[in-house]
Amino acid sequence: MRGTFITFEGGEGAGKSTQIRTLAETLRDVGHDVLVTREPGGSPGAEAVRHVLLSGAAEPFGPEMEALLFAAARSDHVEQVIRPAVETGRIVLCDRFMDSSRVYQGVTGNIDPDFMKSLEKVSVNGMIPDLTIILDLDPVEGLRRATARRGDDAADRYEKEALDVHERRREAFLEIARNEPERCVVFNAERDKAVVADEIAAAALAAIGRRETRKAEAGAA
Ligand code: TMP
Repeated sequence: MRGTFITFEGGEGAGKSTQIRTLAETLRDVGHDVLVTREPGGSPGAEAVRHVLLSGAAEPFGPEMEALLFAAARSDHVEQVIRPAVETGRIVLCDRFMDSSRVYQGVTGNIDPDFMKSLEKVSVNGMIPDLTIILDLDPVEGLRRATARRGDDAADRYEKEALDVHERRREAFLEIARNEPERCVVFNAERDKAVVADEIAAAALAAIGRRETRKAEAGAA
């Protein structure tokens, strides 16, 4: 009865939240049972850690310890929310997941790759996404959109970083997609939202279809 696990990734202001909302509606309209969640957070324990991370309160601990906190939050979220939902056949749409840690902590936090791999293994614990949607956008435009959306609220710990850091993250997401083409699909998020949404829906329905085929084959065997 396994459902489908779909994650959304990308830099700041790429429009993930809007696209997730639209995809959730599209999938519900055709009868799917959809759960929308996010990281850091998504479970009560992980939401408590979210505040510590995004306020910058954990920054003085250094990048490795921040990575540990993201991993702790992810582990709780996976075991309390994502796995139970996927195991009962639901479709889970998650705003950011393991690729954000690979990029923000691993690449731009300059953390030892072996340490990051171990953390990922423990926190994800086999719950690899069936599909990862990467929204790709020039960081200048992304930060402009993020600033406009935020209004008078202060930038979070990650939005505040220099443009070259955001550019390295963009490149790092694209590299993940090149290395794992069976899991990741990149969408140019500079285009009209509705066009991007249609393409995302097609990719998501294809991934759900692949899952259902595998389920049917397993049932027939
Ligand atoms: P968002 O709600 O705007 O996506 O903000 C979450 C921030 O947290 C974003 O700047 C990326 C950052 N983040 C990490 O650095 N590592 C992670 O593993 C996750 C999930 C998010």
